[in-house]
This record gives sequence, C-alpha cells and structure tokens, in this order.
Amino acid sequence: MTRLTTTACVFAVCALAASSDAAAATSRIYNGTTWHATDGSTINAHAAGIYYEDGYYYWFGENRDGMRSNGVSVYRSTDLLNWDSLGLALTPEGERKNTLQDVAPGRTLERPKVIKNPTTGKYVMWAHWEDGEDYSKARVMVAQADKPEGPYTLVRTLRPNGQESRDQTIFRDDDNKAYHIRSSEENMTLQCSLLSDDYLAPTDTYERIIPGKQYEAPAILKINETYIGFFSGCTGWRPNPGHVCTTRDIMSNNWNDLGNPCVDDNASTTYTSQPTYALKLAGYDYAYMYLGDRWNSSNVQTSTYVWLPIFLRTGTPFLRYYESWDLSIFDTLDAIRRAAAIEDGNTYVLLSRLADRMVSLSAGKVCLYDDNDSKNLSFVFEATGEPDTYKLRRADTDSYLRASGSSVVLEDGADLETQKWVFERSSDNFYSIVSKATGKVLSVKDASMASGAEIELIEKTTAAKARFGVYFDHRKFDYEEDNPFGAPVVPAAVENVTPDAGRITLTIAPGAVTVSGVANVAKVMVYDVAGRCVAQRSLLCGGAAATMMLNNLNAGIYIVTVSDDNSSASIKIAL
Ligand code: GAL
Repeated sequence: MTRLTTTACVFAVCALAASSDAAAATSRIYNGTTWHATDGSTINAHAAGIYYEDGYYYWFGENRDGMRSNGVSVYRSTDLLNWDSLGLALTPEGERKNTLQDVAPGRTLERPKVIKNPTTGKYVMWAHWEDGEDYSKARVMVAQADKPEGPYTLVRTLRPNGQESRDQTIFRDDDNKAYHIRSSEENMTLQCSLLSDDYLAPTDTYERIIPGKQYEAPAILKINETYIGFFSGCTGWRPNPGHVCTTRDIMSNNWNDLGNPCVDDNASTTYTSQPTYALKLAGYDYAYMYLGDRWNSSNVQTSTYVWLPIFLRTGTPFLRYYESWDLSIFDTLDAIRRAAAIEDGNTYVLLSRLADRMVSLSAGKVCLYDDNDSKNLSFVFEATGEPDTYKLRRADTDSYLRASGSSVVLEDGADLETQKWVFERSSDNFYSIVSKATGKVLSVKDASMASGAEIELIEKTTAAKARFGVYFDHRKFDYEEDNPFGAPVVPAAVENVTPDAGRITLTIAPGAVTVSGVANVAKVMVYDVAGRCVAQRSLLCGGAAATMMLNNLNAGIYIVTVSDDNSSASIKIAL
C-alpha cells in the first residue's frame, strides 16, 4: 500500500508488527491526505475524471505546479486504492497561437474527463482550457487517443455552441449519446450540449439545464432512468455547500434540486471539498462514489482528495463523511434493495427514509444503526388477516416488535394487539408504520440521522422521520425489487394530457388510477422551470376528461407530473 500519509504509515507499520491484518489497515481511502502512487511518487491528478475498461480504472487529473498546469496526469488501478503512474496522458506542446488552437506550455487545463467513442474506437478527452493569463477565455479543449492512457492529441479548442465554458464534464449515456455539461454565462447557468456522434464537437442541440443558480463543478451519474448531478456553488477554490439535483431528462431545464447532499459535520463546506466526478464501481449494481478535491489555493499541487460512498437506497442521494473508509461498505449498500411489495412470510429490514439506516437493536434499544449484520433487525412479516397488517417477528427468534407506550420493544410472546402494525404505503413507496393498538407511528427520535438514533412511537405524521422502506438483502432473498430510480411509467390510464390556454385537460380511463386507495383519482402537480410547485390537485377522473384550470399562471413552460399510487410521469407543457 503506497498511498498512506506519514501518520497512517506509522499506524500501518505498527499494525504490521502487532497483527497480521496490516493489509486490511492499508486498503482504505484516507481522505484529505497526500496519496502516493505505487512507485512512491505523490499523486498529482486534481479535478479527477475516471474511465473504466477491462478491469482497470484510469484516473485523469490536472497535473499542477501551483497555478501552472503541466498537462493531464493518468494513473491506473484495479482496486481504486493502489495507483500506477502512467505519466502524462496529455503533454503541453507546440507554440501559443493567436487562434487559441494549441496546448502550448503555460496554457491552463482543468477538470479533464475521458470517455470512449464506440464508433471510432477512440478515447476522447474534454477539459477546461484557458490561455494561462486568467479565466476569461472560458473554452474547452477536445483531444483524442488510441489508448485510454494516451497520448492524447489536440483536436480543437472551442466555446461549445458559442457559449462560455469553465467547470465542465462529459457524460456518456446508455444509448451512447454523450453530453457536455458546463458552467456558463459568467458561471451563472449550467448548460448541456449533445455531442456529435464522434464526441469531438457539440451538436446544435443544447439547453440551459440549471439556470441562474450559479452552480459549477458538475459530476453526473445515471441510475436506471434517473440522472443525478453533484455540483458546488461558485466560490473559486474555497469550498461551499454542495447541491444534488436529479432529472429524468438530462437536457431538461427542470432538474429537481434536492439541496446539499452532505448530512454530517462540515456539510456547509461539502466536507471541505468540491465535486469533480461520480464513479460507478465495476462489479456492483448500485455502488457509486463521490470524488472531490480539497483545494489548497496557495499551492494547488498539494491539494488533496475526498472520495466518499454515495448513499442512494432511499432514492435521495446523500453523502456521509468518513475520515477513512474501505470499499467493503458497498457490499451492503449494493445488497439492501427495496421490496416491490410486502409478501406474507418474507424477511425484510426496515430502512429509515430520513437516514438510510436500518432499524436495529443496539444496547437493548430499538434504534437506527449503520449496516451491520449483528445489529440490523431482520423481520419475518406475518400477515394477520387484517388489511396491510403484519406482525414482525425477529428472524430466528420468537420475539415480536411491540408498541409499549411511546417505545418500541422486542418481546417474546403472545398474540397481542400491540404486536400488530399497519403498513400504509405512500406514492414514494415508503410506509407509515402504524401501531394497530394505539394509532401511533414509528418515528426516529429528534429526526436524527445518526447511528444509534432511537425509534419511538409518536402521533401520526408524514414527516420523513416517520417513514420507512421495506427492504431486503438481495444476496439472501430473491424477492421482486422496486428500484427507487426506476423508469417513469405513465399511469397506464392516462390517455391524454392536453395543454390549452390556462388549463390542462387529462383523459383517464375509469377505475384505472388510484391515489391513496381511492379509485379514479390522479395526483397532478405543476412545476415551473425553477422547479417550484405552482399548482397541485387530486383530480377525480372517472371516465370523462378531467380539467385542471391554471388561471393564475403566467405564460411559459411548465412540467406537469401525473401520478397515482403506482406510477408517475412528467410532461412538459407550454401555457
Ligand atoms: C473553481 C473551479 C476550479 C478552478 C478554480 C480557480 O471555481 O471549480 O476548477 O477553476 O475555480 O479559481
């Protein structure tokens, strides 16, 4: 292991002398420390982009010497921990040209990202390009190579679609379309261009995707049909609160802003980091890593790296901070999947909507806990014969989850009313878990997201603290899954959505949509381009077309989301 800091090395050597698990102590990610390649050199690859092929991760990054750019470094690894230095993937060369078509020494290259073009077979690199004087040129550099590690040769520098481009990334989609996402318009607006088939230029199709919010440092991933973007605010090298946004259409100007993904101390600085890349790990279905930079503006090459697992299971991506961690965390993050429906006799865990932690037993208390087989509670769901009502028997025991005043306890025993729980499902597929005996709901005390947060019973509320998902261990059980990032399904019953001056008309087949158990009702939400909900209604459709008047809305573009208990779809309309 070669990436340890001095302190960590001392620890590793001690561990070596003291025990035989020195290897385990070294196979960790140590955030915010200097990392070394396998040859002992300091890794100098900032604002990383990762490309994966045939068992190898290739890490591209800015090779810096203070403000000066030395080109683009490339490192290669099979485990994301031990990196072989492969030198420079792109070396500055040639003379400065007035046309700005050069990568001459002294030019600034930032945030390099690489994808492979399936048609040409070439590896294509896009990076932020500046002339070396300041940040006013706001261009990108496109280069390509025959091998992932390079050497990359310049194709062109440009302003995509004539637009300024500073912080940037590229994203290759499942259908092999690729996109360039950049901070533009004086860094006020994120834009996205569809790239040409060879990925070497933008097409004419581009969109202002996150207008006016001054987000930068884009890092994009996609899970099933949902795109997830991590961004920073715009304060130069100084860290600021991060943002996570999602959308079903990467070119949409209506990304959902979910706020700061960080939940631990130092959330307001994104744990002293700025995003640069979101990586899907090979060998898992749902393992994704956040890659960020902890900048040192006075000595940019000594800036360090902050890599963290992304928590996704609830459908709201978030980041917890770990000073150091190992990749085994992904074994459970990947394995605990949401059940499509509750089936009598199946074994489930309960996952907090708020904290993405499982209901567990620790120190004799029912509480939330980190993924941990010996603490997390697996329950066999026993149907009681009453609708949606189950007794939850702790797997391999005779203990049942029971309501006791405002507490929840596990007790062996008789067939008590206090052991019965009604699972009330909401449209986001989380449940209110209601005590049959008292009508109170399971909730996380003080809305805490911490491991150890107690589970209590409170008066009914729909707050996130009182919502739980029914999940299962995909390694042990072959139940039907409900992916929180599943494809949008237009409610089968919606036959037509027609925008017309000041109103939308919905045609829905009778009996085919159900909201909260009520047939013929569809839920309609209307969002403006900034993502604000400007109107909502539960529409009774019962056969004839139902009309929703939007009298108070200005002319413009709106997103209408039509959903029922099982599905939801968004439609863009112009009023
Ligand atoms: C940040 C940007 C960095 C770098 C820096 C220079 O806003 O994210 O990549 O360009 O500004 O001040």
